[in-house]
This record gives sequence, C-alpha cells and structure tokens, in this order.
Amino acid sequence: LHRYAVIGNPIEHSQSPTIHAAFAQQCGEAIDYGRILGDRHDFAGDVQRFFAQGGLGLNVTLPFKEQAWALVEERSERAEVAGAVNTLIALPDGRLRGDNTDGIGLVRDLADNHGFDFAGTRVLLLGAGGAARGALVPLLESGLRELVIANRTPERAHTLAALGSGAVPVSGCGFEALAGERFDLVINATSSGLSDTVPPIPADLLAVGGWTYDMLYGAEPTAFCRWGRAHGAACSLDGLGMLVEQAAESFRLWRGVRPRAAEVIAMLRAAD
Ligand code: ATR
Repeated sequence: LHRYAVIGNPIEHSQSPTIHAAFAQQCGEAIDYGRILGDRHDFAGDVQRFFAQGGLGLNVTLPFKEQAWALVEERSERAEVAGAVNTLIALPDGRLRGDNTDGIGLVRDLADNHGFDFAGTRVLLLGAGGAARGALVPLLESGLRELVIANRTPERAHTLAALGSGAVPVSGCGFEALAGERFDLVINATSSGLSDTVPPIPADLLAVGGWTYDMLYGAEPTAFCRWGRAHGAACSLDGLGMLVEQAAESFRLWRGVRPRAAEVIAMLRAAD
C-alpha cells in the first residue's frame, strides 16, 4: 500500500485521515493515510524515518509548517512565499519537495464550491500571521483587483504586503485605517476566533453583496461568521471547505488525480 500521513503535535483531532480516506475511496486509489504525533524536538528525524520506511508523502500541521519549509530541498513558488510547507512530496531521486496548498484551498472553496467570482473584486485579508501569509500568492493569482491586508500590528501587514509580486495592488494597514473602506470579500486569517471574538473592524466594511470568509471552522458558527451575518454579508463561510480543498490539492500532487472535494465537505458537515 502507498503510505501517506499527517504529522503534527497535537495530532489526535486531525480530520486529515478521514478526508484522505474518503478521497481514496472516491478515486479508487489504494492508499494508507495515518497520523504521526511529531516530536517537538526532532521533527526532522520523524520526517526522515517516515520517508526512509517508504512513505510517499506527508501533510504537515501545527507547529511544524515552518520547520518543514526549512527542511525541504525544493519548494513551489507559493510555498516559498508562504514561508511554510503543509505538503511534503518524495521526489524520485530521493529529495523532498515542499508545497503549500492552504491558499489554493481557500480560493477554490470560494470560487469552485460557492461560485465567488474574484474578477475585479476588492478583497480584505485580516491578519498577517502564518495563516494570512499562506494565502497570499493564491489570492494574488485569483483575479482579484486589489488586496488590502489589515492587522492589529500594522507593521506586520506592511511586511506581508511587500511580499506581493507587484502585478496586483496589495497594501498593508492597521484596523483604524479601514474606516470608510468597502470590500467585496473580507477574509479572517486572525486567530481572534479562538477566543470567540472578532478584530475591531468597522460595521460598514462590506460592499453591497459582499461576502465574509473565516479560515476557522467549528460545529457552531464562528464569531466571524456571526459578524458577517449581522453585517449584511450575502454569504458568510467558515473554513471547513478550505480544509478539505487544501487536502484535495495535496492528494492531487501525490496521486495525479483531483478528488471531488464538495462531496467530502458535505459528508463532514453532516457529521458535525
Ligand atoms: P496563525 O498561524 O494562526 O496566523 P500567528 O502567526 O500567531 O498565527 O498569527 C496570528 C494572527 O492573528 C496575527 O495576525 C495576530 O495579530 P498580531 O500580528 O498583531 O499579533 C492576529 N490576532 C491574534 N489575536 C488577535 C486579536 N484578539 N485581535 C486581532 N488580531 C489578533
């Protein structure tokens, strides 16, 4: 059997084995996808052992994505800019390639699963940490017209904006600078939802017909989803679809076939 796994710490709550098992069944691919509790002091050793024992690919989750980035011998451009790797691929010559599928997962969930048309839109990304950085390149390639990054610490937003290619306008600011601004899509990549709060943003931030997207997800509507509903969002989504879509892109990189993520999203939704 072709072996894959997700490595993180903690790892017991990871949904990745369930998601990849569903993809494998859907695509008729015989894979074995496990869970590895990574050693916080020897991530590199864990990875090396997995591949030495014939493993073909790993997903990497908290807190190892940056270490995985440093470890690999080759990176995709989106992973390069993200500064983090969530997918490890064993190359035929034995080297390790790193990719980051989080951002394309976000864009595909919005565009493919929900029909959001990025063309010509003005998009606001809240947050400038790892989650925001992972989304930067795919967002800039989505067809949007302008990206604004707002963060509690404005300096970090400026730094992240400077990583943009220059082909699409992207700027950074603090939350206060959002007064009077309107966006077609507001994406929450801050960790404020973990304490069930939203960043201090203006109540009239959404353009008519504007959407909200929270990278966080849960059985109950997240704080940012509730904010969207209360402030006129035409659609307010949580991050479950992004989770499944990033997995689908990893599966495609490993197996060469792209699963139908929507079916698996519906399955997980029903299980909640
Ligand atoms: P992650 O990998 O989840 O992005 P991170 O790199 O620690 O985690 O980044 C957390 C992000 O959430 C940052 O943008 C942080 O803002 P700062 O850069 O100013 O620290 C943001 N954040 C965390 N708690 C927040 C809160 N209560 N309100 C607003 N933003 C918050």
